[in-house]
Amino acid sequence: MAGITNFMQGRSKRILVPGGAGYIGSHTCVELINRGYTPVIVDNFVNSSIASVDRIRQITGANDVPVIEADIRDTAEMVRVLREHECEAVIHFAGLKAVGESTAQPLDYYSNNVQGSLSLLEAMKQAGTGHIVFSSSATVYGTPVSLPYTESHPLAPTNPYGMTKYAVELMLNDLVASRAGINAGILRYFNPIGAHPSGLIGEDPNGVPNNLMPFVAQVAVGRRPHLNVFGNDYDTPDGTGVRDYIHVVDLAEAHIAALEKLLASPDSFTVNLGSGIGHSVLDVVKAFEQASGRDIPLEFVDRRPGDLPAYWADPTYAMELLGWQTRLTLEDMCRDQWAWQSGNPNGYPDVKIGAA
Ligand code: NAD
Ligand code: UFG
Repeated sequence: MAGITNFMQGRSKRILVPGGAGYIGSHTCVELINRGYTPVIVDNFVNSSIASVDRIRQITGANDVPVIEADIRDTAEMVRVLREHECEAVIHFAGLKAVGESTAQPLDYYSNNVQGSLSLLEAMKQAGTGHIVFSSSATVYGTPVSLPYTESHPLAPTNPYGMTKYAVELMLNDLVASRAGINAGILRYFNPIGAHPSGLIGEDPNGVPNNLMPFVAQVAVGRRPHLNVFGNDYDTPDGTGVRDYIHVVDLAEAHIAALEKLLASPDSFTVNLGSGIGHSVLDVVKAFEQASGRDIPLEFVDRRPGDLPAYWADPTYAMELLGWQTRLTLEDMCRDQWAWQSGNPNGYPDVKIGAA
């Protein structure tokens, strides 16, 4: 519908997408294009490949996806890009996201995630861009006081990565309260997994995956011998950790709903994006074995320090506010993850910047 409206107006709305070459950003760019928007990607490729942009073009048939290689901490460049492309809003994915690494290198995380977001907001003010959707995380809640987490659950992140997300949330809330002409949609993601059903884009972690799903997929494709399951003595139905997994395409669609809400009304909001359903590590392994037809050998090892036993979202507010809820199941997530992993066993091909 938005596509038709934009077409009839003769020009599609341009949306700046910092981090648009990454995992969630690339899927959101596909949905933006499907709805008639033009994403303007800014990425420094610290954790992504320019090849993903070529795949976005392949999936959507859009040849006019601008890509700028830049760091969001370069405020002047962000102002230039926002002005040159006349961007109406920003969907901000750019940042570092590895919890363990954030504990070892906290200053890198504060610099990329907090200073980077500050720079981007400063650029938006200078360029007069009035809307931002921000990738936050369920990790801002910390140890559950009650479950499921609602948006009003106390915030107490337990690692530097989570602290940076919390800090940016505070910064956005203060900016909105100052009536600077910017409204913000803060999205607290639960555990995004899966891939586009085409199998052309997906998560391509550097080195050994930190997260469960990419690790399982690499075991299935033969890149790793077995999965280490971090703990089987939690107080959960099968003793393994429980999380709220969300298909990355559902998540991408939620960004469009959030964007359109911000474009339509001056209000700002903070909302959970999850399914409301918890799955254990063993549930995920079983579903992946079924989807792939491969065995996933596993070993039970000690708990991973810092892991919470179980948490999941209360997704009620997302439905009330955005009219959005998840529609894809764990089976869909595993099927699409397998399409990506089996079609791209070593991830994206090496492509030189500028060649895609
Ligand atoms: P990703 O690493 O695939 O994508 C992030 C992108 O940002 C990458 O393309 C990277 O190269 C780019 N980037 C990083 N720092 C940059 C900088 N200073 N300037 C320009 N580009 C920069 O990660 P993702 O999984 O797609 O996550 C996207 C966002 O969602 C991140 O902010 C992450 O913290 C947040 N998030 C992710 C998860 C998850 O489990 N994947 C959960 C909650 C929140
Ligand atoms: N797990 C294993 N083996 C592995 C990897 C993970 O058993 O090799 C287990 C974990 O112990 C946990 C579950 O699988 O019980 C999920 O772990 P992930 O690492 O996939 O995800 P987390 O819930 O730890 O964290 C992720 C992101 C965070 C984000 C959070 C949001 O890494 O950045 O989801 O809910 F903040």
